[in-house]
Amino acid sequence: MSISYNNNFLHFDNINLKQFSEESLTPYYLYSESLITDNFNTYVDSLREFNHLICYSVKANSNLSILSILAKQGSGFDIVSGGELQKVIAAGGDTKKVVFSGVGKTEEEINYALENEILCFNIESNDELITINNLANKKGVTANVSFRVNPEINVDTHPYIATGMKDNKFGIDEKTVISLYDDASKLDSLKITGIDFHIGSQINSTSPFIDSIKKINNIVTVLADRNIHLEHIDIGGGLGISYESNANLLSIKNFINELSPLLSKTGLKVIVEPGRSIVGKSGILVSKVLNIKSTPDKIFVVIDAGMNDFIRPALYNADHNILPIVSYASQKFICDVVGPICETADFMGKDKELYVKTGDYVAIEDVGAYGFSLASNYNVRPRPDEYIINSDTKSIKKIREREDYNDMVKSELKFLKT
Ligand code: LLP
Repeated sequence: MSISYNNNFLHFDNINLKQFSEESLTPYYLYSESLITDNFNTYVDSLREFNHLICYSVKANSNLSILSILAKQGSGFDIVSGGELQKVIAAGGDTKKVVFSGVGKTEEEINYALENEILCFNIESNDELITINNLANKKGVTANVSFRVNPEINVDTHPYIATGMKDNKFGIDEKTVISLYDDASKLDSLKITGIDFHIGSQINSTSPFIDSIKKINNIVTVLADRNIHLEHIDIGGGLGISYESNANLLSIKNFINELSPLLSKTGLKVIVEPGRSIVGKSGILVSKVLNIKSTPDKIFVVIDAGMNDFIRPALYNADHNILPIVSYASQKFICDVVGPICETADFMGKDKELYVKTGDYVAIEDVGAYGFSLASNYNVRPRPDEYIINSDTKSIKKIREREDYNDMVKSELKFLKT
C-alpha cells in the first residue's frame, strides 16, 4: 500500500504528510512516480507478446513532468488537442508515437500534427476525412489515418463517460465505416494504417471490450476482402480503477490477458490508450480543514479544496476516500466534506466517517487522473501546486507552481480602460 498510517500519521510513498503539509500551501496535489511507472510497465509486460504501443492518454493528467517520465519509459501519447501535442513535444515525447483522437480537430491543430509527423489521426467523420486529406495535400505530405468505430456497446459506467453507445457523438457506425475506408483508399494524401475504438472510461469488465474487438475483427476481415490492409488495432483506453479500498479491481494484467486471444487473431499491432489506469491511483489531493460547521441536520467539514481544484465528485458523483492525515483514537463522526465554493455541488465527499479538527489536514485519494487536468479558476481561485515523489530519491519535487493573483488577472487586466 502506498498510502498508510505509521504511528497514526498518514504516509504516502513513505512521506510523512503532516510534516510536508505544514511546510506547504494547501491544497496541493502529490503524485508517486513509482506508481506511475509500475502501472506503465505492467502494460508493457502484459502486452509483451504483441507488437504494441502504449499511448498514454494525456487528458488524464498532462503535467509536463509526468509526460516526461512516461516518455522516458518509451510511452506514446493519445492527444485530443494542439495544446496536448505541444505539451508532449515540450516533455520530450516522440511525435511518431502520437495518435490524435477527438471529434472536433481544428485545421490549425491538424496542420500542427501534420508538421510534427504524428503516427496517426483517429478519424471521426467523413467531413474530417476530407479536411485531413486536403490539408495534407496542401502540405505535400501523407497523413496516416485510422477510423474510430462506434461499436454500439453498452458499458456500465457513468453516462457522461460512456462513449461507444449508439446515441453518443463518438465514432462511426460499422456500416458507414466500410464505405469511408473505401473512400479513403482513393484519396491521394492519406495512408490507411489502422482501426480504433474507445468505448468509455472507468470500465471494470472486459466483456464490452471483447464484444467490441469481435465487431472490429469482422470489419478487418471485410476490409481485407476489399484489399484494404491495416497495420494496427487501437482499443482505446477505459480500464477502471478501484476507488473504494475493498472494491474488486480488474487488474491491468488480467484485462490484457483476457483480451489477448482475440487481439492475437487480428495479427495486427496493438495500440492502447490508457489514462486513468496509469495515473489514477498515483495521486492524492491534500487539503486543510478550515471550519467544522454543524447544522441541525449535518456536520460539514469545510476544507480549502473546492470543486475548482477537483471536480469529479460534483460532476460524476464520484466517491473518493478521504483520510485524515493524523488519525486520532477519538470517536469518528459522519459528515459531508465540502469546499469553500458557492455551490451545493461543491462537495468532496458525502456521509464520510472520520474525525478531524479545524486546522487538520485530509487527503483525498485516487485523484491522479482527471484531477488537476479538470481544475479551473472558478471563484477566482488559483489552481494548486503539484508535487511528485521521485522514485529514486524518495524526495518530493515541485512540478507545477500554484497560480498567483497576477496569473489569474493578467489576460483581462490589459483590456481595462485606464
Ligand atoms: N482514449 C480516448 C479517445 C479517450 O477519450 C479517453 C478518455 C481515453 C483514451 C482514456 O480513457 P481512460 O483510460 O482514462 O479511461 N473526466 C472523466 C473521464 C473522461 C474520459 C475521457 N476520455 C472522469 O473523471 O472520470
